[in-house]
Amino acid sequence: MQKSYWQKQRPQWEAAQLNEDQETDIAIVGGGLTGLLCAWLLKDSGRHVTVVEKRRFLENNSVRNTGKVSALHGAFYHTLPSELAQSVFEINRRAVDQYEQLIQAADIQCGWQRTSAVLAAQSEEGTAILKQEKAALNAIGAQLANPPAWDLPFKQQDEVVLAQQALLDPWLFQKGLLEALQDKVTLYEESPIIEIQDHCLISDGSYVLRFQDLILTTQFPAFDRLQLYAARFHYQREAVAAFRCDPALNGLLLNTVDPNEALSLRFAQKENEPALLLAGPAIGIHHYPKDPYAQLLQTAKMLNVHQPLACWTAQDLIPRHHLPFIGQIQDHFWVAAGYSKWGYTWAMAAAEMISTQLQDAAYVIPDYLRARRKGDLFSLYTLGNAGTLTEAFFKDRFSVSPDGEPLRTGSIVRLRGRRYGVVIPEQGLQFMVDLTCPHMGCPLHYNPADQTWDCPCHGSRFTLDGRSLYSPSNVSLQHYPGINSLHPNLK
Ligand SMILES: Cc1cc2nc3c(=O)[nH]c(=O)nc-3n(C[C@H](O)[C@H](O)[C@H](O)COP(=O)(O)OP(=O)(O)OC[C@H]3O[C@@H](n4cnc5c(N)ncnc54)[C@H](O)[C@@H]3O)c2cc1C
Ligand code: FES
Repeated sequence: MQKSYWQKQRPQWEAAQLNEDQETDIAIVGGGLTGLLCAWLLKDSGRHVTVVEKRRFLENNSVRNTGKVSALHGAFYHTLPSELAQSVFEINRRAVDQYEQLIQAADIQCGWQRTSAVLAAQSEEGTAILKQEKAALNAIGAQLANPPAWDLPFKQQDEVVLAQQALLDPWLFQKGLLEALQDKVTLYEESPIIEIQDHCLISDGSYVLRFQDLILTTQFPAFDRLQLYAARFHYQREAVAAFRCDPALNGLLLNTVDPNEALSLRFAQKENEPALLLAGPAIGIHHYPKDPYAQLLQTAKMLNVHQPLACWTAQDLIPRHHLPFIGQIQDHFWVAAGYSKWGYTWAMAAAEMISTQLQDAAYVIPDYLRARRKGDLFSLYTLGNAGTLTEAFFKDRFSVSPDGEPLRTGSIVRLRGRRYGVVIPEQGLQFMVDLTCPHMGCPLHYNPADQTWDCPCHGSRFTLDGRSLYSPSNVSLQHYPGINSLHPNLK
């Protein structure tokens, strides 16, 4: 998988593996943004906290985003009833301040910069949406500001501005958080949890971590417990790229709201080199384009930025109404998921709500965020989701590479009723992987741009050699060394 701009040329963080049975008071599964924030808020609770991460730390989705910490990411508030919009706005606005407090308390050097967040529209449809958003924000008493004096690389018809939002460097932020946590909580990496039984987490190395309370922060809830999350969320994937740019864009934090063309832009500075990060529009996971970066690079040309410094993809979970699921799904078991590309402020809010409830059973999480809410299950959203999933489950189930075509990386062959993917590296041993998704059996696709095997159903992704990257799948693909190990006549 391509490294993000934030990850490039930066060293790995080192943590231990869970390689013996252990006990803890609070186990957090998932060492991304939410998991680490929960650990931060619980580190002084007087209880022992352990974070278990499937991959390496600083490899998660949260070091692949655009690092905007803001209560204004898109035209969203006008879609909610006014009272709800007010509550959501207050939670997210407060979370921005909580980041500043955390960064100061832990002395994290992560390029934290307060700036104005701008929503802009380029089309008439976008302008109409912006008008409604402005009205909704005014109705809930949000203090809108004057437009900053950026020399934007495109003409916009209208804009909405919220002052005192922020930018940070996601990699430096998480690294700083890990450093601040390392003496206070136990951190395990490369330790995928594949099962939960009673009060025990079981890792793929068959080690057991006993816990009293569990917080699941695996982005897609990796253990469903009959909350039927596969029907309640869909993953949305986006291409992101960083380009050299003019330093005059310093502080830029902007989202456009034009339907089907929504873009996210921000200024960044790494090793004193000014860069513009550009993300969007969404490319989905069901009908994946051959070149996910083509449209973005075209847009970059129009904005007069060239020379990409890095191109990568990231994905996030979109629930109905774009409201996350936060809270308890069983006794001693909490979950937080579904941030709709609005991860910083929602992750902070989720970490605060869960850590408070864990220490004070009387604390109530707002009903509209409850992880066990059922209304969503009987909705057009769920029906639409089920239709797309059914199509993805059956489509390409029988598709294989054409007969007689020489095998190469990404070729798909069918043997004894199962599909296998071929990998022929430039150096090292050839091998094959089983292309039936371990989550619910959908047929995996080869993604040549990112060099991954991707599931079109719920968005699990795997490295070429089958290691699990994105949940909901917890386990890796079956791996067969040598392309003739399954059939003697494969060429
Ligand atoms: C293109 C794009 C741009 C974005 N930009 C922004 C932005 O500018 N601002 C913003 O607020 N939000 C943004 N977001 C959203 C944000 O990135 C996400 O909402 C956020 O990263 C989700 O955090 P998380 O903690 O839920 O997941 P993650 O950070 O992905 O963490 C989940 C962790 O759980 C681990 N895990 C999974 N399964 C297991 C298992 N079985 N055992 C152990 N560990 C496991 C994973 O390896 C991973 O490390 C963006 C999203 C996208 C797609
Ligand atoms: S079948 Fe659900 S992610 Fe693959």
